[in-house]
Amino acid sequence: MRLERLWRERRPTLIPAVLISVFLFAGFYPKSGVAGVARAPAAATAGVEDCLSCHADTVDQIKFADGSKRKVRIDRKTWSESVHGDKLSCTDCHSEIKGYPHPKMSAADARDYTLKMGNVCQDCHSAHYTKTQDSIHYEVLKSGGRDAAPTCVDCHGSHAIKNPKSPRIEINNKCGSCHSDVSKEFMNSVHGKALVQENNQDVPVCTDCHGAHAVAGPAQANFHENAYKSCAKCHSDAEKMKKYDLNPEVLDTYLDDFHGSSNRLYAMGAGKPDKPIASCNDCHGIHDIQSFKTVSEDGAKKTARERVVTACRKCHEGVPPGFADAWLSHYKPTLKTAPLVWGVKWFYRIVIPLIMLGLVLHILLHLWRLRTHR
Ligand code: HEC
Ligand code: HEC
Ligand code: HEC
Ligand code: HEC
Ligand code: HEC
Ligand code: HEC
Ligand code: HEC
Ligand code: HEC
Ligand code: HEC
Repeated sequence: MRLERLWRERRPTLIPAVLISVFLFAGFYPKSGVAGVARAPAAATAGVEDCLSCHADTVDQIKFADGSKRKVRIDRKTWSESVHGDKLSCTDCHSEIKGYPHPKMSAADARDYTLKMGNVCQDCHSAHYTKTQDSIHYEVLKSGGRDAAPTCVDCHGSHAIKNPKSPRIEINNKCGSCHSDVSKEFMNSVHGKALVQENNQDVPVCTDCHGAHAVAGPAQANFHENAYKSCAKCHSDAEKMKKYDLNPEVLDTYLDDFHGSSNRLYAMGAGKPDKPIASCNDCHGIHDIQSFKTVSEDGAKKTARERVVTACRKCHEGVPPGFADAWLSHYKPTLKTAPLVWGVKWFYRIVIPLIMLGLVLHILLHLWRLRTHR
């Protein structure tokens, strides 16, 4: 009875609610919890044994039109431990293969085979595919860099796909397999050393600054202007920086100074600057960032100062060593460190509101006069 009444009273809200739930359920269920998995796998893992009965220990090979060969053995354990091992069946990806003998394969060579087969990933992970289309790597592929550009399979593999997020060092190894110079340089930086030697999980890996799928680089518009944001993700995180006894105000002080304040405008889309404006990387380096703490107390100061002037001269040609003193480093001006700047700042802080107040008062009095003396 109560149900019937509920139905009568709440019908206008219940019907849309049920419809929306069904819609959402139907939309999300096949994704099995993965963002962007668009196609439901067929009856999960069915028939895998049929294929593995031959493929788990065969010594057979496939032969491509150019004469090159490749083994067709699929390791049972590697497969079952992979991210798809308990979720997909072989034919989810090899849909054209029903039994043996297999249909004739049309790849010209091994790379052609990988590129053709690799297209299957986008059936289920369409969101990732869409992202890769915005990447510098996709541009390489499009412009004929068939062998050079990485595809899903080059970075993730095909049957031995592991959780791609950890261990984090694996990400660098992956990118480093092609970008070996950058990777070597990075491994010697303050970030890289912490990653390799201490297994530190707080330091950045390649994808924190470049992304994994929509990989961006300096050739892309405004990459330089926006690069400070990737540093800021960590270096303005007070809690994270406390662990390493590092100043969390590096971003604020940068945005307050002459470089940061103009650079920010360009990063927001105010066109392109005539000259590149100093960003974190121009003073600290890119993949070779070093700690100022690794040298002795005395040497550290000198090195830091020397580095600053050298960095300044990259853009402000031939300036004297004292030029760097125009810069307040990453410290908020105080009465002690920079009395003049501090004084001017407070002068403005007090005088500007007073002027504004006077202005408003002036207008109000004017209006009052107009009204009473009309
Ligand atoms: C009777 C043994 C046997 C069975 C069962 C078998 N294969 Fe194969 N497969 C082979 C051999 C041998 C080759 C090497 C090339 C050839 O002879 O076609 C091969 C090659 C392949 C290739 C590479 C060539 C291509 O066409 O892309 C794939 C992929 C493949 N098999 C997938 C499967 C799948 C999926 C199943 C299960 C539906 C399966 N195989 C079942 C024996 C078998
Ligand atoms: C997630 C999709 C996917 C699933 C599931 C899958 N494969 Fe593959 N398979 C691929 C891709 C992609 C390639 C091409 C790999 C390359 O060129 O490096 C491939 C290639 C092959 C080859 C050719 C040899 C090689 O390793 O390049 C064989 C044989 C094969 N698969 C068999 C199987 C069998 C057996 C299963 C089930 C246990 C299976 N595949 C499940 C995507 C898949
Ligand atoms: C038939 C659909 C389907 C195809 C095709 C497919 N995948 Fe998947 N993929 C899935 C499902 C389902 C999961 C598991 C989600 C989970 O663990 O919750 C998954 C998981 C993954 C993960 C791990 C995600 C994570 O968060 O850890 C990666 C990486 C991945 N797939 C890459 C690939 C690559 C590369 C290809 C092509 C070689 C591919 N997939 C083809 C359905 C598919
Ligand atoms: C240049 C290497 C590279 C290429 C190419 C690449 N990936 Fe990834 N992918 C990664 C890395 C690294 C991660 C780990 C996540 C991160 O660091 O953001 C990842 C994460 C994933 C995940 C896990 C979920 C997530 O986003 O965290 C899936 C699924 C995935 N990739 C699928 C794909 C598919 C599908 C393609 C092809 C369209 C592809 N990837 C191409 C490197 C790559
Ligand atoms: C299969 C090889 C390969 C892999 C793996 C690879 N890349 Fe690349 N990458 C290239 C090629 C080729 C180019 C274009 C030529 C160049 O500038 O080096 C490129 C370009 C870039 C650029 C732009 C360089 C510029 O000068 O504009 C960045 C940034 C980049 N890759 C980052 C990454 C990251 C991050 C990863 C790992 C997630 C990665 N790459 C994995 C081959 C690869
Ligand atoms: C802390 C952020 C950060 C990390 C981590 C990082 N990069 Fe970069 N990378 C940059 C910035 C910023 C630039 C562009 C500098 C400029 O404006 O010229 C760049 C430039 C590049 C370039 C093009 C220029 C060149 O030097 O060849 C490539 C390729 C590249 N990075 C790859 C990688 C790879 C691979 C890794 C991991 C080993 C990595 N990066 C890690 C920030 C980073
Ligand atoms: C994913 C987080 C993360 C990102 C992104 C990041 N850093 Fe760091 N950085 C750290 C951590 C954590 C440390 C401390 C490492 C240690 O001392 O072991 C560090 C250390 C440093 C140091 C050494 C400080 C000292 O004197 O000891 C400098 C300089 C630095 N980072 C600059 C940068 C710049 C510039 C960028 C951007 C291009 C950047 N970082 C991006 C996390 C990050
Ligand atoms: C104009 C050059 C310049 C710019 C731009 C710059 N830095 Fe620095 N930074 C330095 C110098 C020099 C030091 C050395 C320490 C000092 O002078 O006190 C330093 C110190 C640091 C430290 C170590 C702080 C500590 O507690 O020891 C970090 C971390 C850092 N900078 C990150 C950044 C980040 C992130 C950005 C961009 C938001 C940035 N820097 C922009 C020159 C610069
Ligand atoms: C990557 C290039 C670059 C580097 C490195 C650089 N600057 Fe600048 N700097 C600029 C540009 C461009 C402007 C003009 C900004 C504007 O138009 O708002 C500027 C402006 C200034 C100004 C404001 C007065 C003027 O000349 O317009 C001072 C002072 C200054 N920089 C000092 C420094 C100091 C000190 C360093 C080293 C610690 C340094 N700069 C490093 C590019 C750079």
